[in-house]
Amino acid sequence: LTGKFTYDPGFTSTASCASTITYIDGDEGILRYRGYPIQDVAEGGDFIECCYLLLYGELPSKKQKTDFETRVTRHTMVHEQMMRFFTGFRRDAHPMSVMVASVGAMAAFYHDSTDITDPMAREIASIRMIAKVPTLAAMAYKYHIGQPFIYPQNDLDYASNFLRMCFAVPCEDYKVNPVFARAMDRIFTLHADHEQNASTSTVRLAGSSGANPFACIAAGIACLWGPAHGGANEAALKMLEEIGTADRIPEFVARAKDKNDSFRLMGFGHRVYKNYDPRAKIMQQTSKEVLAEIGHADDPLLQVAIELEKVALHDEYFIERKLYPNIDFYSGITLRAMGFPTSMFTVLFSVARTVGWIAQWKEMIEDPEQRIGRPRQLYKGAAERTYTPLAKR
Ligand code: SDX
Repeated sequence: LTGKFTYDPGFTSTASCASTITYIDGDEGILRYRGYPIQDVAEGGDFIECCYLLLYGELPSKKQKTDFETRVTRHTMVHEQMMRFFTGFRRDAHPMSVMVASVGAMAAFYHDSTDITDPMAREIASIRMIAKVPTLAAMAYKYHIGQPFIYPQNDLDYASNFLRMCFAVPCEDYKVNPVFARAMDRIFTLHADHEQNASTSTVRLAGSSGANPFACIAAGIACLWGPAHGGANEAALKMLEEIGTADRIPEFVARAKDKNDSFRLMGFGHRVYKNYDPRAKIMQQTSKEVLAEIGHADDPLLQVAIELEKVALHDEYFIERKLYPNIDFYSGITLRAMGFPTSMFTVLFSVARTVGWIAQWKEMIEDPEQRIGRPRQLYKGAAERTYTPLAKR
């Protein structure tokens, strides 16, 4: 052991960087984007405004917002050759595997915006990713279900455009449901950034070497895919479907507490929040709005989720460990009600988090003191020993 370093698995007690973007107080359950409480940003504005705030640090004026939205809208189409790129994938590939590959492939198509020393190139790369990742996500979904790709429609807002690219088909008109569009927009805002979570730290570490920005975002998508991170929304819904009815909740709560059982309550607990994740409250409200819109106000899965939350929050094990619902606990119910399959849940998370990854990447690149990331270790291996030639082994 070198003795020079402290070691804390998951390094939540060490600051990996200084940042001005997102503030979390895990004990109080506080989340702010550039100083504004998440509740106000999610309910007072929309996702385009949230993107501007995260990227540039201030709420936009009406003109700034319109200009920014126009720049994003004009980059929503992807290079036509990327269509052929998709045909190399199996149809039954998980859409997250397609996202890792296709966002990474943007590095092979957009050479003019990868000179990270040039502020204009950084700006263009940022706008391109915010604009094109939803298009690639919708393409991943359409390819997965064997339907033709739907081109972006630039007279629609960001969330409506995304829903249309996912759910419209060439043979009939498609009208975006305004309740779904509002819910989608709010879900994007709630997932936009979250300080130095695993995937954001991945993007920062990859970007610290000066790597291609599109490749860095692809690295973030790869990390987000894990069930302990962004994959939890898919796992949480599958868990609620497996529980099925409230009378089976005690069985699953007992399993979650049993150290010999690898089962955990998905959508519960957090590396930083030791209080209620403020995003989960807004997500629960959003799920009720969407379920009411489709005439499922008493959706059995929502009832199971609400009952499970109640049971867990009164259980010693969860209280002692300060385990509360996180954003993934209710998001799956909402997304399923909007028509998305579970395989798309983490893809939607990656669409939203792209702006957070970019804002954090830009902040790091533009920091004059920025150095390549190089975490150290506590060495626990063998001390020096004499080499034995093969002939004598
Ligand atoms: C996201 O970092 C971010 O900001 C991420 C994110 C973002 O926006 O980027 O917020 C998005 O990833 C949210 C988290 C989604 N993941 C899940 O919901 C998966 C289920 N939750 C867990 O696996 C777990 O809570 C983690 C991974 C989130 C945190 O795991 P830790 O670090 O082990 O949690 P901990 O240190 O707080 O655990 C303390 C205790 C442990 O038990 P003891 O060893 O003390 O006996 O609580 C237990 C854990 O085993 N525990 C759970 C539990 N989560 C923690 N027990 C049962 N069910 C759970 N869900």
